[in-house]
Order: sequence, then structure tokens, then C-alpha cells
Amino acid sequence: MADPLIRFREVTKEFSRPDGVGTFTAVDRLSFAIEKGEIVAVLGKTGCGKSTMFNLLAGLIEPTSGKVDVAGHDPFSEFNAFRGKMGIVFQNDRLMPWRTALDNVVLGLEILDAKRAEAEIVARRWLARLGLSGNENDYPHALSGGMRQRVSIARAFAVEPDILLCDEPFSSLDEMTARDLRAEFVRLVKQAGKTAVFITHHINEAMDVGDRIMVFHRPARIAYEARMDAASREGSGRQAIQDEILKVLSLETGEGMPAAPVV
Ligand SMILES: Nc1ncnc2c1ncn2[C@@H]1O[C@H](COP(=O)(O)OP(=O)(O)OP(=O)(O)O)[C@@H](O)[C@H]1O
Ligand SMILES: [Mg+2]
Repeated sequence: MADPLIRFREVTKEFSRPDGVGTFTAVDRLSFAIEKGEIVAVLGKTGCGKSTMFNLLAGLIEPTSGKVDVAGHDPFSEFNAFRGKMGIVFQNDRLMPWRTALDNVVLGLEILDAKRAEAEIVARRWLARLGLSGNENDYPHALSGGMRQRVSIARAFAVEPDILLCDEPFSSLDEMTARDLRAEFVRLVKQAGKTAVFITHHINEAMDVGDRIMVFHRPARIAYEARMDAASREGSGRQAIQDEILKVLSLETGEGMPAAPVV
């Protein structure tokens, strides 16, 4: 079997405490592998280290110990090897307010040295695929939250990245809009044969999006894993996995934890 596309080996991330005394462990000897073409949903309570794992994966921070490997490279020390290979959709859309929808999508392509005219064609195509034809010249403040999130999805997909990283991309949207965008996201990832890591703290969202779910305890390590297939997406199979996830999340104790997990 081919090597997995993404692999964490015993990865630990410690931060200095704000008072400067000692360290705080956000990720604790975390190991997992993700195959090309998989969508892996990462579920866990607030503060369990999901975004820290995400930042390690995106090469934005360096592990304290252990090894992160993406397509045979270290994303932190070989950051440039990943230009255009990873697309990121953040929790908040992070669009540039002084750029129109079109120019926000074009930006990612220009960074990759695409010519303006070509970048514009690609950007228009992606905006159209996400239902935003006619909104190309709108500035972010004139778009709804759902529309802004569509622009950020278009921006991530437009560079044709091999890997998509999403950190709670739909958490600030109403349920109907989030459901539509989730379905759209899965369709786009599968159509293009991409690999995605999707962070959420909604159990149902994880079950709808993921081919596989990893549930984290705090500090980030895997407490439970489930593979989602046709049988586990519906009926009693789904219920059984949901019950198990709820059990794993509610068994967890820790400072600053909410009492009940979000379903
Ligand atoms: N740069 C940093 N310096 C110090 N501590 C940090 C830093 N980044 C994260 N932490 C701490 O690490 C822990 C995990 O944070 P992280 O943002 O990874 O959680 P999360 O699972 O993404 O939470 P949420 O669901 O609320 O987004 C938290 O206790 C946080 O305070
Ligand atoms: Mg987070």
C-alpha cells in the first residue's frame, strides 16, 4: 500500500504558560495517518487542541517533539514546498475587506504567479460554481456570512490544492446554509479527488462530512475513531456511532470544559 499522504508520529506541542512559568501541553504524542482521497473530520471539545493540530499540519507552527509528514515533506521546515498544495478555509472567512469577491479569489492565484487574466477566468469559474455569479464585484461587507464563506471556499479550491484544511468553516452559519455548503464541499472534494481535514465540534457535521471521524481528548490525542460508510451514515448504525462519540466526549473532564458536548 502507498504511504499515507499525511502522517503525525508521536507529535507533541507545548506552549509557554502566559505567566512564563512552565509549559502547557496542547497536543500530546498524537499519531494518525490520512490516505489520499480521504475526508477526515476531527471532533473535540473547545480547547482540546484541534486548531493547534491544524496549525502543525499547515506548517504554521513547529512541533515540540515528534514528526509531521505531508506528502514526504515537513510542512514547517519545508513550508515553500507546499505553496499552492494546501488550501485553507478558516472559521471566519478571513477575506480582505478592501478586495472584491473576485479579487479575493484571484489573490491566491496571483501569489502562485498566475497571470491576472488567467487568474480572473479561474476565479470567475469558481465563484460561479459556488453560486456567486453576479457577486464578483461585491465587497465582503455587502455579502452575507454564507456568501463570504462561499468566497473563501472558492479561494481555497481555485488554486487546485491537493489538500484542503478546514477549521470549523461553517460554524457561524445558520443550519440550512451550513447544510448546503457541507454537501457542496464534500461534492467538490470528491469530484476533484482531493484529501481534506475538516475540524468541527458538531457531531452531526462530522458524520455528514467525514469518511472517517477522529475524536480528540484534551490535550489533543485520539480518544475514538469511526469509519463512516453507507451503513453508518443512516439509522441505527449512525445512532450507535453518535452514542459512542457522546460517551467519549462526556467522559472527558478538564478545566474550562463545557458540561455537555454540542450535537
Ligand atoms: N499560541 C499559543 N500559546 C499558548 N497557548 C496556546 C496557543 N495556542 C493554543 N493554546 C492553548 O492550547 C489549547 C488548545 O487550543 P486550540 O486552539 O488548539 O483548541 P481548539 O480545540 O481548536 O478549541 P476551539 O474548539 O475552541 O477552537 C488551549 O488551551 C489554548 O489556550
Ligand atoms: Mg479551534
